[in-house]
Amino acid sequence: MGKDVIIACDFSGKDETLAFLDKFSGKKPYVKIGMELFYSSGPDIVKEIKKRGHKIFLDLKLHDIPNTVKKTMAVLSSMDIDMCNLHAAGTVRMMKAALEGLTRPDGTRPLLIAVTQLTSTDQQSLNEDLLIERPMDEVVMHYASCAKGAGLDGVVCSPLEAKKVHETCGKNFLTITPGVRFAGGDAGDQKRIMTPAQAKEVGSDYIVVGRPITAAENPVDAYERCLEEFLD
Ligand code: C5P
Repeated sequence: MGKDVIIACDFSGKDETLAFLDKFSGKKPYVKIGMELFYSSGPDIVKEIKKRGHKIFLDLKLHDIPNTVKKTMAVLSSMDIDMCNLHAAGTVRMMKAALEGLTRPDGTRPLLIAVTQLTSTDQQSLNEDLLIERPMDEVVMHYASCAKGAGLDGVVCSPLEAKKVHETCGKNFLTITPGVRFAGGDAGDQKRIMTPAQAKEVGSDYIVVGRPITAAENPVDAYERCLEEFLD
C-alpha cells in the first residue's frame, strides 16, 4: 500500500482552496476535502480538484441506516474520489452496505475507512454520554476489528494508536493518522501529536496534515518537509 501525506484543505470556499493548490504548481499532493468545504462548494470542488490531477480523500464521515449509506456511497464513488469514510458506530451491516454501494460496475472502488471513536471523545463522555463502559483503547480496537471484518480498508486513528491497530488488524489494514506536527511546532487544539518522522516509525500509512502546511509561511516547503520526514 502506498504511503503518503494528505493535506487537510480546511478552507471555507472554492476560490481559497484552488488558490492554495495553485502554489504547488507541478506537484499534485493528496488532498482531504472535509464537510465544511464540501457543504459550501458542493461536488464541483471535488471534480475541479480531481481534474487538476490530485488524489482525493472525501472526509464526510457517513452514519445513517444501511440503505441510505449504500445509496450515498454510490453517489460519492461516481465522483471518482480515491478515499472516503464512515462511522464504524453505524454497525457492521451499515459498513457492508457502504462497501456494496461504493463498488463501481467495473469492480473498482475508492478506499473505505472507518472512524472508530472521534479523538474529541474522552473516556468520561464515552461512559456518561454514550453509556459505553469499556476502556477507550478496547472500544477503538473493537471498532477497528468490526471494520476489518466488514471488509473495510482501514481506520482513522491517532498516530499513538497506529501500532496497536496493526497488531490487532494486520499490517495491511490502513491507519490514516491526523494529529501531526513538526518538532517544536504549534500543536493548536491537537492533544496527542507526533512528528511526521515519528508517525513513520510507528507505521502510519497516511498522515493527514492541515495547519502545519496550510498556515505555513511557505506551504510547499512545509509539504516537502513532511514528505521527506515521512517517506524517506
Ligand atoms: O490542522 P490539523 O493538522 O490539526 O488538521 C487535522 C485534520 O484532520 C483536520 O481536517 C481534522 O478535522 C482532521 N481530523 C482530526 N482528528 C480526527 C479526525 C480528523 O484532526 N480524529
